[in-house]
Amino acid sequence: MKRNVQSVFLKGLLAGFLGSLLMTTAVAQTINMGAANIADFKVVYATAQDVAEGKRVAQTTCASCHGINGVGGQKGVPNIAGQRPVYLHLEMKVYQAGGRGASGMANAVKYLSDDAIMKVAAYYASREPADPSGASVKAAPAKPDAVAAGKAAAAACGGCHGEAGVSKLAGMPSLIGMDPKYFISAISAYKGGQRKNDMMKALVSELTEAEISNIALYYALQKPEKAQTPASGNAAAGKTAAAGCVGCHGEGGVSGSPTTPSLAGQESQYFVSAMRAYKDGSRSDATMKGPAGSLDEATVKNLSAYYASQAPQAVKVAKPMTVAEWAERCDRCHGVNGNSTDPRSPALAAQRADYLEKVLYAYKKGERKSKEMVVMTEALDDALVDGLAAHYARQKARGMAYLILPPSK
Ligand code: HEC
Ligand code: HEC
Ligand code: HEC
Ligand code: HEC
Repeated sequence: MKRNVQSVFLKGLLAGFLGSLLMTTAVAQTINMGAANIADFKVVYATAQDVAEGKRVAQTTCASCHGINGVGGQKGVPNIAGQRPVYLHLEMKVYQAGGRGASGMANAVKYLSDDAIMKVAAYYASREPADPSGASVKAAPAKPDAVAAGKAAAAACGGCHGEAGVSKLAGMPSLIGMDPKYFISAISAYKGGQRKNDMMKALVSELTEAEISNIALYYALQKPEKAQTPASGNAAAGKTAAAGCVGCHGEGGVSGSPTTPSLAGQESQYFVSAMRAYKDGSRSDATMKGPAGSLDEATVKNLSAYYASQAPQAVKVAKPMTVAEWAERCDRCHGVNGNSTDPRSPALAAQRADYLEKVLYAYKKGERKSKEMVVMTEALDDALVDGLAAHYARQKARGMAYLILPPSK
């Protein structure tokens, strides 16, 4: 489709946009445009004269920051080329009313007439949107989601704890299916020295909190499996001895409490050494001191065989939504890949990543008001804000189309 054709205008962009939705098909037939193309564009109604007048406003009032083509390339200054005109118009009114704070932007539009605002909105809406691969967008490369990041970080642990945390080595605890709460407290006990093990302390001391919680999530979400080491000891006798453990560790060693570890499928030699450590006090824990202290070695061995033979169960941990899953929700209002077809929802595709981040935090903190967006950003943590900003910055933006209509009389 050609862009250099004469354009049409309907007075009042707000009313005009509703009209455009209805007229799209008819207009498309008039100019013989394919059905595949029409889905990519939204019709803008503006006369060539209106757009030319809008361009003059842009030149004198906006271009110093947004560039004459609406792709400014300055940090913090949004790309506005190809943005939905109703949205541009609405936001300028919000700045005029002081709704987005006092700033260079608010000053620039303060004294513009409604007519000038409409025309400059039509002008910038008609510009070619930013190129997502260009310098004006600056999206960081995609970061892996929490589970994938956890898997990558856990590579350093697999040599001892087994791939996916299923132990294949006697004396090494299985980590698979472990509740993240217990996992994280065990790591911090090594770090803090409450649980004495110099090797584990050294291994985890370099990990950040985020890395630890990602690794915990990764192990928790793997399909549980028993440790793959042989267990000596009498499992049947162990079952009888386990009667006193059920209250805390659960039936069959499947714990219902996030701070009490499950024992089902745990590596037997590790089990024995843990019991010994509780008994001799080298692993000090008020809860386990009693149960471990009263048992002889043979009974502990039997218990270890019994628990090693029990089938571990998945922990109840919700898999957090990935950036892609979040984006599907956002797209319900912002259009496929952020190419909005709802006049009130801004297009997000190929917007500057730094600007997207800034406004998402502004909604989250309530500095920028919007019923929809305050609700949507409540649950977003820093990593998701980061990820969503980068996701939308990388999307190809679809612009606005200009269509020829006979001049109105
Ligand atoms: C002094 C620099 C400056 C000038 C001049 C300026 N702007 Fe802006 N504009 C900005 C900045 C910075 C922001 C983002 C501010 C924020 O985060 O609220 C912005 C935001 C906007 C937005 C909101 C975009 C969105 O996606 O929500 C629109 C629309 C806009 N400007 C249009 C214009 C128009 C049209 C003009 C001229 C009439 C203009 N601006 C003049 C700097 C400027
Ligand atoms: C060189 C072998 C080795 C490596 C590598 C290793 N660990 Fe360990 N890990 C152990 C041993 C041995 C224990 C048992 C220590 C004890 O008795 O307290 C253990 C215990 C643990 C425990 C406590 C398990 C429980 O049931 O309470 C956690 C959690 C853990 N490791 C996490 C990790 C993580 C995460 C990594 C990778 C960053 C890792 N380990 C790397 C050997 C290793
Ligand atoms: C009053 C509750 C309670 C009872 C009863 C209890 N435990 Fe525990 N057990 C715990 C808690 C809490 C922990 C975690 C302590 C820590 O962080 O070191 C634990 C830890 C363990 C561990 C270490 C697991 C690991 O992954 O490092 C083993 C092994 C264990 N218990 C076995 C037993 C056995 C066998 C019995 C019965 C003879 C028993 N426990 C009875 C609460 C209990
Ligand atoms: C229920 C509809 C709806 C959903 C769902 C939604 N948004 Fe919005 N969004 C809006 C509306 C309406 C606005 C304009 C609000 C305003 O005027 O400030 C907006 C504005 C924005 C802006 C500001 C754009 C700009 O140019 O300044 C960003 C960024 C944004 N949304 C991102 C998201 C993300 C990311 C999600 C998903 C986590 C999302 N939105 C989900 C309706 C929605």
